[in-house]
Order: sequence, then structure tokens, then C-alpha cells
Amino acid sequence: MTIASPPTSIPSHVPPHLVRDWDLWGEISAKGQDAHAHAASLHFSTPPIFYVPRLGYLPGCWVPRRSDDLRQILQDTETFTSTAATPFPQMLGETWSLIPLEIDPPNHAKYRMLLNPLFAPKRVDALEHDIRAQATALMASFAARGSCDFNTEFAEQFPTLIFLRVMGWDTSEVGRFVAWTQALVKSQDMQVVVGAVMQIRDYRRERIVERRAQPTDDFTSSLIASQIDGQPLTDDEVFGICFLVFLAGLDTVTSSLGFMFLHLARHPAQQTELRENPERIPQAVEEMLRAYSIVNMRRTVTKDITIGEVTMRRGDYVLISTELGNLDPEKYVNPEKVDFNRPDAHVPHMAFAYGVHRCLGSHLVRRELRIAIELWLTNLPPFHLVADKPVRVRAAGVFGVDDLHLAWGAA
Ligand code: HEM
Repeated sequence: MTIASPPTSIPSHVPPHLVRDWDLWGEISAKGQDAHAHAASLHFSTPPIFYVPRLGYLPGCWVPRRSDDLRQILQDTETFTSTAATPFPQMLGETWSLIPLEIDPPNHAKYRMLLNPLFAPKRVDALEHDIRAQATALMASFAARGSCDFNTEFAEQFPTLIFLRVMGWDTSEVGRFVAWTQALVKSQDMQVVVGAVMQIRDYRRERIVERRAQPTDDFTSSLIASQIDGQPLTDDEVFGICFLVFLAGLDTVTSSLGFMFLHLARHPAQQTELRENPERIPQAVEEMLRAYSIVNMRRTVTKDITIGEVTMRRGDYVLISTELGNLDPEKYVNPEKVDFNRPDAHVPHMAFAYGVHRCLGSHLVRRELRIAIELWLTNLPPFHLVADKPVRVRAAGVFGVDDLHLAWGAA
């Protein structure tokens, strides 16, 4: 299958002075380890809302950078629909939706209510022991060696194992899930992405058929047994939910772990601060979630709207970059600085978005990140980057650290 790249034409209603003729991802990735610092600098070099003609393999879109504008857009679900927020169903020429992300209010709430209990704080409390045990076992496999490939040996495995436990799915599938996730989020080659989406689709659809015939106590079976408005969920709905939790829940945690551990490796004094004051780990996690946000979302304009000097037309795409929103100097003093004792820590960040689609997994994520940092700082000596292994940072729909090798003991 040959897949055409999207056209890079700029719609006639976009004033030329608002166009920045880059691929935003390429522009930010070019700064390597300092991608977020570069994203922060865009607040001083671009209009509040600008237009890029292309975004990786996605077509052109508006890029609002001010936190207040981003929040306004996320709140106004009538003007900014999240229908078709992701390109995946369309890539296959299919019409299912990622649920509840691609469902607008009021129907969104019906699905969300179904899913909330699975990721509620009480459920996460019950997982605490398991989360610690999984992290400890992974660390035990490399601790004595004095170094590790952080992604393959820890950051990819850890959230995937927890995710499989939460879903009640087979943990021996961890390798397969990691491989699909990496193909889906890392590749800028649309054919690779389409191949991964097809494999995930075929695998999950087969599991749905199996569970309809023979229910178990897993997540898929409980969705099949659920009803909305007195009706059982269709196969497309069950599949759309499973695909979304898979997409939303795996690489996001891997990527956040990558940025947090990259930061700590580059800032030994802050490792010491947290070793000596472990009660600060939760606020350190919040600060790093803010400073190293990773998720970019897309909305489509349903009716013409003017924000500031920009008029967006029906059908335009809008990028919601949590990185830009959380690095907005109108909201935070020295936003690019990572300060675990930041005086404006009370200003809420938008790493998990805002409004009705706010992240379903945020309680689980926070627990996973806190436990990972706590166990590393408690069980291993100060860690640092391995000198001859370059770090690679990816700016894409989900920002991430693709190569991160850590070592401890003598530098
Ligand atoms: C560091 C990790 C994570 C980050 C930064 C993150 C961030 C986000 C963001 C920004 C959104 C809003 C998307 C949009 O409005 O278009 C979102 C939604 C969502 N997230 Fe997360 N997420 C993370 C991990 C997880 C995990 C572990 C799960 C579950 C296993 C999860 C499940 C979801 C779901 C289901 C939605 C859609 C909610 C809705 O539409 O109502 N996320 N997440």
C-alpha cells in the first residue's frame, strides 16, 4: 500500500504573517535534549496563534501557544470537536472512534462513567503493591550491572506490565504490546504506523470475538457485559475503547519516565534533594509533568470562530500542545526552569489536558511515576548519563526520549 503525504498547501483564509513554514516537530526535534527549552522559546518568537503547513505526516493546523487560549479551546467542545482527533481509523478507511476521546458531550459522559471506576484512586491504591513489585523486579535485573538501557529494560516494560494487570490481560504479551506501541508513536513513516494499527486492530478484534463466546473477568468481558442507555456496546465500541486505552496508556508513561530520568541524570543536585527529602517526590513529579509535558492533541473547528486576531474556519485543524501551554511565561515564572519548590506550583498544569477529556489515567500515572522515582533513588546510587551513548529526543504527537542509557557508581 502506498500512502500519500498530506498536502502542505496553506488555506487562503490564513494570513501569511501568521504562517511559520516549518514542520513543528522537525523544528523542535532539531534541538535534541533541549526540545522543551526550544518549545519554551517559541513563546517569544511566534504570534499567540500561528499556522504550520505540516505536522509530521499530518496536514497543516493552527498552533495556539497561550495556556488561556488552549484552555478556552478545550472547554468549548461545540466549536472544537474531538471527533477524528486521531488519524488512525481514517488510515484504515474505517469509521470506528477512539472512545471516549473522539466522542463529544453529551454522549461522552456516558462512556466516561463506564470507565472512571477502573482508574479511580481506590483502584490505584489497590495496585500500589503490584506497582512496587513490578518496578523492583525490573530494577533487580540490572542493578548489579551498574548501567542499563533505561527504555528497553525499564520504561517500556514497567507501565506495560501494570497496564496488562489493570486490564486483566496476559502479561506474557508484554513484548508484543511494547513493539506495537513503539511503532505507533515513534515512526514518522505512515506505512509503518498503518501496519501497527492493522496488527493491533486484528489482535483486539480477535480477543473480542473470543470473549463474546467465552467471558472471563477481564476488561474486554466487562465492556461486553456493559450497557449504555439500556443497549449493550457494539463490537466497534468495545474495540474503540480498548484501542484508546492502549494508545493513551502505554507510551505516555514510558515517555514521561524518560524525560524525568533524563532530567534527574543531568541534575545530580536535584537527585540529592529528593534523596534527602523524599516527601518532595510528589511535587517533583508535578513539576516535571509540567516542564516536560509530552502530549499533543488535535481538534477540528466546527464553526468559524475568532480568537484574538485569528479567525479559524470550519474544518480547520487546531493543535493542542500541552508542552506549549505548560511553558507559557504568562502563567509561570521562568517556565523552562525545573524547580521542585516553585512558588507558583499552585497554578494548575495541563499535562493531563483540561475539560471533559481530562486524562482518565492520571491517578495511575502519578502513582507509577512517584514509585519509580522513589525506588530508583532509594535502591540505586546517584545515576548519570553514559558518556558515549547519545540521548535522542523525539518531538511528535507524544514527545519522548528514544535513547537513554543510565549508569551509577563511579562516573
Ligand atoms: C504520563 C502519562 C499520561 C499523560 C501525560 C496523559 C495525558 C493525557 C491527555 C493530555 C489527554 C487528553 C487528550 C485529548 O483531550 O485529546 C488524555 C486523555 C486520556 N488518557 Fe491519558 N495520559 C497519560 C497516561 C494515561 C494512562 C496510563 C491511561 C490509561 C491506562 C490514560 C488514559 C486516557 C484516556 C482513556 C483518555 C481519554 C479521556 C476522555 O476522552 O475522556 N492516560 N491523557
